[in-house]
Amino acid sequence: MPAQPLGAPAPLDGRIPADSTVHLSERDFSLYVHVPFCTVRCGYCDFNTYTSQDFGQGVGLASYAQDARAELRFARQVLRDSGAPDRPLFSVFFGGGTPTQLPVADLVSILQEAIELFGLAEGAEVTTEANPDSVTRQDLFDLKAGGFTRVSFGMQSVVPEVLAVLDRTHTPARVPQVVTWAKEAGLQVSVDLIYGSPGESLADWEKSVRAAVSYGPDHISAYSLIVEEGTKLAAQIRRGQYSIPDEDLMADMYLLAERIFTEAGYHWYEVSNYAKGPEFRSRHNYAYWRNQDWWGIGPGAHSHVNGTRWWNLKHPLPYAQRVREGQSPAAAREVLDASTRSFEDIMLQVRVIDGLKISRLLDGADHDRVQASLDWLEGQGLIEPEARAQGRVQLTLQGRLLGDAVTRELLPDRE
Ligand SMILES: C[S@@+](CC[C@H](N)C(=O)[O-])C[C@H]1O[C@@H](n2cnc3c(N)ncnc32)[C@H](O)[C@@H]1O
Ligand code: SF4
Repeated sequence: MPAQPLGAPAPLDGRIPADSTVHLSERDFSLYVHVPFCTVRCGYCDFNTYTSQDFGQGVGLASYAQDARAELRFARQVLRDSGAPDRPLFSVFFGGGTPTQLPVADLVSILQEAIELFGLAEGAEVTTEANPDSVTRQDLFDLKAGGFTRVSFGMQSVVPEVLAVLDRTHTPARVPQVVTWAKEAGLQVSVDLIYGSPGESLADWEKSVRAAVSYGPDHISAYSLIVEEGTKLAAQIRRGQYSIPDEDLMADMYLLAERIFTEAGYHWYEVSNYAKGPEFRSRHNYAYWRNQDWWGIGPGAHSHVNGTRWWNLKHPLPYAQRVREGQSPAAAREVLDASTRSFEDIMLQVRVIDGLKISRLLDGADHDRVQASLDWLEGQGLIEPEARAQGRVQLTLQGRLLGDAVTRELLPDRE
């Protein structure tokens, strides 16, 4: 698991600095609930998750919902005490780990408590991630009845050899089954795919992409495999047991997916995300990409309120002890300065189809340098000329393949 950033000490009363509570009514407020349990740890994954269900002292899977609800009540109180206006939830996202390791009744009880405390904004999206293995048809109907609107399944691949390299335990045939059940229940459906696994060929990837579109989800995320330091996969690669695909193959995989998705009616709206129409784009992801506000509930969860960011203790035991004492479970926090906020906004927004406002780049920068960078990017075919004429930076397909290079060109001072 990755180390957490250092940050500054976070106050036990959770109070948010006054500078971060101004103009909050103009900002969206979302909720993230981190459920840190999985049946097995996949070799590539470095999320904060545990295969143990019991950490002693009455802390574990069975106590999770109660502790999460306590943090929700704490959040409500801290926001009020800090002078923040009441804001209904723009979106809610249960991620993990594997949220569906919890009984559905627990997930619903956390959601209902959140709705009672904060309310839901009109059109709010309420998603849970789910492993295809750990949900039944009844669970999906119960999630819908309990207020969830959307489910995101970790599909990753349809090729058994690729799933085995990733340590995924589900059988590929389970995915179309759970997608069908979720649709019958009236939930929006997303599936996650991963490309670039060791040994995966272009033909393997094509099978997975074609299978995903054939199940007819509303939304597909396709992530390139990131080899995270400290994972089993990183050790296997270091020992020479596996090798990672070269960059040309990864680019070919992206282009192939783009073609098949587009032919099937899925259109990109962020470098790794495709939707069947604008109404199926993830509202919660948009909240992150626009650097809005969210409270992260649960061990290791990160929160952000208008430039103040904090992250919870990672281990479920000390996390629960703090929450039960009525104290903030934050491990540390940081208050971002204007230049860091602006840098982060640009990094995130450049990857989204709406693009980045050129005026954002010009803010306090050398205008000639920015125009020269844009000329160069346009000349290389990395940004759309029409969007530029309308005052936005929007990536072309080639630009999406080289997104990091585009950011480096736009933000040379930060390298
Ligand atoms: C927390 S997991 C999703 C929920 C569930 N635990 C699962 O794995 O199906 C979120 C998604 O992140 C992606 N992911 C996790 N680790 C990754 C990595 N190292 N590289 C690329 N994608 C990764 C996977 O596609 C996964 O579906
Ligand atoms: S099931 Fe998901 S969260 Fe759990 S270890 Fe695998 S990828 Fe990570």
